[in-house]
This record gives sequence, C-alpha cells and structure tokens, in this order.
Amino acid sequence: MIEIMLDWISKSQYPLFLAPMARFTDTVFRQLCKKQGADVMVTEFVQADAIIRGDDRLWETVDFTESQRPMGVQIFGSEPTNMAEASKRIVQKIKPDFIDINCGCPADRITSMNAGSSLLKDPATLGKIIASVVSAVPNTPVTLKIRIGWDDRSINAHEIGAIAESEGAQMLTIHGRTKAQGYQGDANWPVITAVASNLKIPVIGNGSIASAEDVLKIKNETNCAGVMIGRAALGYPWIFRDIKYSLRTGKMPKPISLPERWRTIIDYTEKVMLRSYSKERHLDIKWMRPKVIALTKELPGSRKIRTELGKVIQIDDLRKLADLHIQHFSEHNYFKSRNQK
Ligand SMILES: Cc1cc2nc3c(=O)[nH]c(=O)nc-3n(C[C@H](O)[C@H](O)[C@H](O)COP(=O)(O)O)c2cc1C
Repeated sequence: MIEIMLDWISKSQYPLFLAPMARFTDTVFRQLCKKQGADVMVTEFVQADAIIRGDDRLWETVDFTESQRPMGVQIFGSEPTNMAEASKRIVQKIKPDFIDINCGCPADRITSMNAGSSLLKDPATLGKIIASVVSAVPNTPVTLKIRIGWDDRSINAHEIGAIAESEGAQMLTIHGRTKAQGYQGDANWPVITAVASNLKIPVIGNGSIASAEDVLKIKNETNCAGVMIGRAALGYPWIFRDIKYSLRTGKMPKPISLPERWRTIIDYTEKVMLRSYSKERHLDIKWMRPKVIALTKELPGSRKIRTELGKVIQIDDLRKLADLHIQHFSEHNYFKSRNQK
C-alpha cells in the first residue's frame, strides 16, 4: 500500500506547476508566478555532488520563501550515495516539501556523467538512486521528473514509472518528449496518458501547455493529477492567472496592460540584481539579458526590444526603453497587436 504524502495535490482543484527552468525560474520569478496562481513549484536542478562539496552559491539557486510552498528542490547526479547525502543536507537546511530527481535533462554535460535523461537508459542505477534518496529523507516525499524515453526507439516511461513507484517515489512528472527531441516537436500525450492510467502515484503532465483549453483537455481526457507549465510562463507569467480564471468562469480575464507588464519586468529585474551574491551584478544589468529577453518575448515588437536590450547597461536604461515602448504602442495598438509579433 503506497502512502501518498503529497496532500497539497488533493487539496488543490487541479494543480498548476511551474516547471523548473535553469537560469530562469529563480526565487523572484517563482514569487511572481505564485502571485499569479501557480500552485506548486520546483527549483531548477542543482548537482548533488556540488551540494556535498559545499558550493555555497547553490543555496541561492534553491532559495525559496515560505509563501512559495509547496516547493520542491530538484537535484541531479548519478551516484546513489551522493544523491542521498545531498538530499539529506537539503532537507536539514531548508526543509522543502519534496525532493525531485531530474531524469530529463538532455544536455551533454549532464548525460555524459550518466545523470539527467541518461538515467532513462540505466534503470538499474535509477532504481538505486530513488531507493537511496527515499531512505535518506524518510519524512520528505521524493518525486521524479522524466522524459518519455531516450529516443523514438526506446520509449520507456512505463518501465521507469513502475520503477519509480516501486522504489518509493511519490509523484512522477512526465515531459512528453524524448531526450532526442530536445524541446522540439509535439509532446506525446498518449504515452503520458497511458502511464498515468497505470500508476497509483500521481502523474503530472508536461509539454507545450499554453492555454486554459490545453489544461481542460488534459484534465478531461487523461488521468494526470495536474499539469506543469514551462516556456509559456517565461514570457507570460500571467498564464497561471488566465488559466485559473478561464477554468473558473469559462472566459478570459481582462488583459494585463502594457505599463503593468513593464512595471512587473522592471521590478523583477531590479529584485534579481539586488539579490545577487556579487556586488558588481547589483549595478550592471548585462548578465540579466537572457532573463529580460525571455520576459519580453511575448510583448509586441519583441524582436526590436531584443535588439535594444543589447544597449541596456543599467536599470535606468531599461526604464527608458520601457517608456519608449509604451509610448510607441498606445493601449489601443497594444491590445490589437498582442498576438502579432
Ligand atoms: C531554459 C530551460 C531550462 C530548463 N531547466 C530544467 C531543469 O533545471 N530541470 C528540469 O527538470 N527541467 C528543465 N527544463 C525542462 C522544463 O522543466 C520542461 O520540462 C520543458 O520545458 C517542457 O515544458 P514546456 O513545453 O511547457 O516548456 C528546462 C527547460 C528550459 C526551456
């Protein structure tokens, strides 16, 4: 009999998870998504071995506030003992609501150490990792985030799901693409649906979810216990608000005005800069460019903004860019052009 400890899943109507996205879903971004209605969040992955080495910067990566709970910390690695030891240290120090094991990262630097999606090809090691982590942190649920398989010829989410469940994992998130697909192509929802139907532990579906219609379809047509939203939230963190409103009322909420979107972007940028461990990063915005580019990607004229961001050095430059952009797109034009980039 599996005792599921994730009571926050059953308490939520249909939980919306913010996907972990390395370099983007920092604590300030998570706070923003939480405010807009994201129910559950997971930190971007941190290397178990680096936690054990005592790399202090990692604690900044996994930092979270009480209001962000339920909050998971995601780890990656290939050594069962180190994964267990790192989980123990994380639980002792910051007490997350769950420890999530990364079995989906496709990057060579991760797979070459037999971590991330490489573990899909090595179920024996993966089973040992899950069992070690589960016994190292007996009072904290352990969960897994996987892809459906390494490539089209080796789709094995069923097998991995069964191992996860039998070794004591409490939840499985499935990104419906193979490692070989990277982030391209369609997510394979039939595989996610079949695995969700076979397991007793909750399965969270993930892959290209971008609207309330997508969520409704998954809710009605699969056994997924919730959904996880990734890239669609990066450029538009209000997606959680829109989906919740739409599921509740069947309508779309009033769009967020352009000045408010910019206020949010600037506020976010300023907060992240000031939180950085490096004093230089408090003043120089350049290191923030990828994050700001992601956040402005869904704005009208985003390509031009991207070019202009190349000239932005201080936060005041970003404010000026925002003012010019707002002036250029009057409210009327903005709403008309929301979907034309
Ligand atoms: C920039 C970026 C960084 C990511 N970092 C992580 C990570 O640290 N851990 C993880 O499990 N998945 C990571 N992912 C994968 C996402 O969590 C998610 O599974 C994937 O983007 C598919 O969801 P989507 O189609 O809604 O974007 C990352 C994805 C992106 C685009």
